[in-house]
Amino acid sequence: MIDLSPAGTFTLGDRTVRRMGYGAMQLAGPGAFGPPKNRARAVQVLREAVASGVNHIDTSDYYGPHVTNQVIREALHPYPSNLTLVTKVGGARGADGSWLPAQRPKQLIQAVHDNLRNLGVDTLDVVNLRLMGSGLGTSEGSLAERFETLAQLQREGLIRHLGVSNVTPTQVREAQTIAPVVCVQNLYNLARREDDALVDELAGQGIAYAPYFPLGGFSPLQSSTLSDVAARLDATPLQVALAWLLRRAPNVLLIPGTSSLAHLRENLAAVACVLSDDVMSELDGVGGSHS
Ligand SMILES: NC(=O)c1ccc[n+]([C@@H]2O[C@H](COP(=O)([O-])OP(=O)(O)OC[C@H]3O[C@@H](n4cnc5c(N)ncnc54)[C@H](OP(=O)(O)O)[C@@H]3O)[C@@H](O)[C@H]2O)c1
Repeated sequence: MIDLSPAGTFTLGDRTVRRMGYGAMQLAGPGAFGPPKNRARAVQVLREAVASGVNHIDTSDYYGPHVTNQVIREALHPYPSNLTLVTKVGGARGADGSWLPAQRPKQLIQAVHDNLRNLGVDTLDVVNLRLMGSGLGTSEGSLAERFETLAQLQREGLIRHLGVSNVTPTQVREAQTIAPVVCVQNLYNLARREDDALVDELAGQGIAYAPYFPLGGFSPLQSSTLSDVAARLDATPLQVALAWLLRRAPNVLLIPGTSSLAHLRENLAAVACVLSDDVMSELDGVGGSHS
């Protein structure tokens, strides 16, 4: 059994989670759309993750849509009391699987109710407001009306904690003037470090940063530096990529996604991969787009 404790824990509001978590997006069909290729395997992956000590799972009702949450419920309900489910609202899916914005207050309220129903809970632990920029990018603009809509649902008791996703630092600060923000979920990994300063700013405030695409997303990271380091440490390149994130800052929470038991085990085992300062500097060269 893998011991996840070396990675430590972090506090999300009144919840404490292990820093090694799991992202459920890959459990739906290809492109996070439609039913899983193998539903029994999807259930197995979730159960093994939790049995291994994972107590932080990231999801959304627009994965599938609805499918991923329904599989989580099938696999894990009634949920262990220490399990924190983090979901997100702000998107929807077209009939062809396209990703669509669903950011109007009415749509956000509907999405919260869809999450409650499909996960089978009375209160959602954490809800991220996911903004829609251009493609995977962020774009400036006020989130006040949208975040106030979620803050109202929080006051009504449907949501315990709030976060934001696909946001700029200015938008994080704006959200914080409306309600406490316990986590930020943006695109970040060894090769995509545009958020370096934001990660540090949030660490200083005790706010979690959960990078999405920690392994590079649908096309996992590949680099000769990663491969060289991995060979020296008797690890895999993707384990090194996760170990780098764990060492990057104490507020980084990992949610690597996989539909495979073998990949799940490999990813969880990354907690045992300890990177020296020299290796951290060496890995800084990967991607090279950060300042
Ligand atoms: N807020 C947002 O806008 C947003 C956007 C995207 C994702 N997310 C969240 O972030 C989580 C993580 O992102 P992600 O799943 O898209 O990307 P990821 O974790 O960076 O990578 C997932 C991809 O890597 C593969 N993979 C996983 N482990 C592997 C391993 N050990 N060896 C080789 N390949 C491996 C997966 O395929 P297999 O299934 O074959 O392992 C999948 O194709 C998601 O699950 C989701 O919860 C949030």
